[in-house]
Formats: sequence, structure tokens, C-alpha cells
Amino acid sequence: MTTRPAAWEPTSWRGFPALQQPDWPDEADLDRAIKQIAGYPPLVFAGEARSLQASLAQVSAGNAFLLQAGDCAESFEDFSADSIREKLRVILQMAVVLTYSMGVPVVKVGRMAGQFAKPRSNPTERIGDADIPSFRGHIVNDAAPTAAARVASPDRLVQAYHQSASTLNLLRAFTKGGFAALDRVHAWTQEFVSSSPEGRRYEQLATDIERALAFMRACGMDTESNPNLREVDVFTSHEALLLGYEEALTRRDSLTGAWYDCSAHMLWIGERTRDLEGAHVEFLRGVANPIGCKVGPSTTVDEVLGLCEVLNPARIPGRLTLISRMGVDRVESGLRPLLRAVTDAGHPVVWACDPMHGNTYSAPNGRKTRHFDAIMGEIQGFVLAHRAEGTWPGGIHVELTGENVTECLGGADALSDDDLDHRYETVCDPRLNGRQGLELAFRTAELVETHRMG
Ligand code: TRP
Ligand code: MN
Repeated sequence: MTTRPAAWEPTSWRGFPALQQPDWPDEADLDRAIKQIAGYPPLVFAGEARSLQASLAQVSAGNAFLLQAGDCAESFEDFSADSIREKLRVILQMAVVLTYSMGVPVVKVGRMAGQFAKPRSNPTERIGDADIPSFRGHIVNDAAPTAAARVASPDRLVQAYHQSASTLNLLRAFTKGGFAALDRVHAWTQEFVSSSPEGRRYEQLATDIERALAFMRACGMDTESNPNLREVDVFTSHEALLLGYEEALTRRDSLTGAWYDCSAHMLWIGERTRDLEGAHVEFLRGVANPIGCKVGPSTTVDEVLGLCEVLNPARIPGRLTLISRMGVDRVESGLRPLLRAVTDAGHPVVWACDPMHGNTYSAPNGRKTRHFDAIMGEIQGFVLAHRAEGTWPGGIHVELTGENVTECLGGADALSDDDLDHRYETVCDPRLNGRQGLELAFRTAELVETHRMG
């Protein structure tokens, strides 16, 4: 294994091979943007990251459940109060379904307020008879299929910072200002959801919650005087991909002296950048935030144990979340050896299931899609693997939007291939719409419930 120096600085990653970094045309221009961001205020505070870590420690102990959800990639164009609010609504609805059905606290983490950068399997894409740079997310370039649009522009890093700040600001306002109060459970339902089967099922649950709240109010506990009923913590997270940007927002906490990446509460690294010898692992090992790492079907026991050792040598509960993305056919066989090895080694990780990325394919019309049945199938396999190994299926990591899009097939209203063209709006991977997200929450709660019973 690597001989990693014990010392760590926000710049240490620069001495390691960094995959998936854009080809910036002008290094001086990049430096200017990075310095500008380094002078800006942090987006989150260390104390918030510590509080998320404490909640995740509860998940790793089997006493809470993680819901991590949001866009595949946030967009500079689809940026409005409406789109933020609609996304939050779905997350709140799913959280309330999971909390009510499972009877354990749900830790809510958005893929939001910073989820812009995308790893790509090829640095270039063939358009007509030219190879142009691949789209890497709006923090790097534009999605339009022309060479000019695909030039990496450092100004976009600065714009991503500002969009993250506004998104986080509105998120804080909504989650602390009354929008998320439990006596508003009915109000989170959108029109296009309320008429569907899962919408009706939600209405039933919301009515039950209202009855419980009326009972508690009669006993002297109302939402006005009880912040727990009125407010909710929705933490932010994104893939730590562009290390210059993450470095610029990494600050020393004055209270503890530890380094925190203040671009989000939680950061993760992907299946393509989790190389033990690479720059991304080097960067993440040094920040004190709770961190995540995706693990795909090719992950070996040695690799996963190496990641645990390097990313969480002190074995702090809540520090490391392993997010498996195996694909429906491989989830049980792929996951079980990893669960066993990590448990035997005494690493207190959170296990979360990303049922999206191992189940993506191209429909006959060329659209990238995912089938709801495969997504649910992977969650089921995940729960079964945990039951067999005696570990806690700690959470789910999903890509969704609040809009009524048609990007994933199936679900209770059975979207088909032909529907994909109606509203296919993602700038990257296909996302669940509000109805599909809600159905997924109900069915996940049922699967985990049987896990706990059995
Ligand atoms: N604060 C509690 C929690 O976060 C209860 C709560 C308030 C809640 N508003 C919510 C739960 C919205 C889910 C969704 O769990
Ligand atoms: Mn994605």
C-alpha cells in the first residue's frame, strides 16, 4: 500500500494522480478563480458537519436511517425558488413516510447546493465527425454539443459557489422557517402527485400524523413551542470531484483546529475516483467532515478494507458511509463479502444503497433511463444481504427531482419507453419524479420493516 505521509494539508492531494480533472485551457485563469473562492466565506460550518456525523453515528449503530437524495447534477439553467422548493417537498415527503413507517429518526441529506461536477467515462464525445470535450457539469462547461460550449471555464467555479450559497440559503429558510413544520404534511403534496395511488396513500398517512399532532397538542405539546416538530435539518452533500474547488473551501475550524471542507456538510468520492493511491482519497482522508465512498460490483474485500483504514483510521462512527451501487443482479453476491469483511475488521460504517447507478441503460430511442423495478430490486437485494450478514441496511442514496419528469421507466403509473420524450430534462442521469420517489419511500420502509421483524 501507499506510504502516505502522516501530515496532511488541503494541498497534499496535488502530489497524487488526480483523475477526472477538466482540461482547463489557462492555468493562470484557473488559479485566479480558485483564489477568489478561497477568499469567500465558507458555505457550511464545522459544527453542522459534526452534528451530521453524530446523526450518522446513530445510523451506523442501527438506530436511524439515512435518506440522501437530489439531482444527479444541478443545473445553472434550472435554478429557481420553485425547483429548490419542489425538490425539498419530495425529500420531506419521503422522510416523513420513512420516519412514520419505520419509527426511527431519518437523517436527511440533499444532493444539493453544490452537486455540479460529473465524472465521465470518456474525456471526449463524438459529435458528427468531430471529437469534442465531454460535458462535465455546469461547474466546468456547457452541455450544448459544440466545441465552444465544452471549453472548461474557471468562471463557472465561481458561479457554482454563488448558486450553492443561494440554494443553501433558501434551504435553511424553508427548513427552519415553518415550511417543514409537521402540521403542514398535507401541504407538501404537489397536484400531480395527489391524484396518483401513492399520492392517496400519502394523504392517508398525513391524516394519521395530523391526528397524532392533534392528540399531542391536546396534551400540551404544539408545533409552535416545540422546534422538533416545526423544524428539520436537511444537510448538503456532493461528490468531491474538482479538488481545486474543494481545497479552496477547506478551512481550519477555530474551535477544534481540524480541517473541514466547508463546501458541504458531507462529501463523497465516486466509483471512478476511489483509487487508494489517488488524489481524491488523499484529499478526503484529511477533512473532518462525514464522508462517503461509492462501491461498485468490482470492489474487492482488500480495496474496501483499505478505504476504511485510510479514510477512517480512528474508526469514528458516522465518519464513513459506504454507498453500494452494484446493479440489481449483483447486489446480494457483491455486497455480502464486503459486509462481512468490514464487520469483522471492526469498522463502524454506515451502509447506504445507491440503486440508481448500477441500473442505467439506453432505451431503444437512445435515452438513458432506469427502470423502477430494477431500482426497487436493488434495494430489496441490499436489505436481504444485510439480513443475511446481520448488519443494518442504513439508508438509500437516490437521484430525484420534484418536477413531473419522465426520465425513469415504470412505477405505479407505468411510464413506458414512449413516455421518455415527454419531459426528459435532466442534464445528466435520469431521475425519479415526485411520484416515483414517494412510492420508493413506501416500499423501502416496508422492506426494512420486514428486515427488522425477521
Ligand atoms: N424534526 C423532526 C425530524 O426531522 C420531525 C420533523 C419535522 C420532520 N418536520 C419534518 C420529519 C419533515 C420529516 C419531515 O425528523
Ligand atoms: Mn448520476
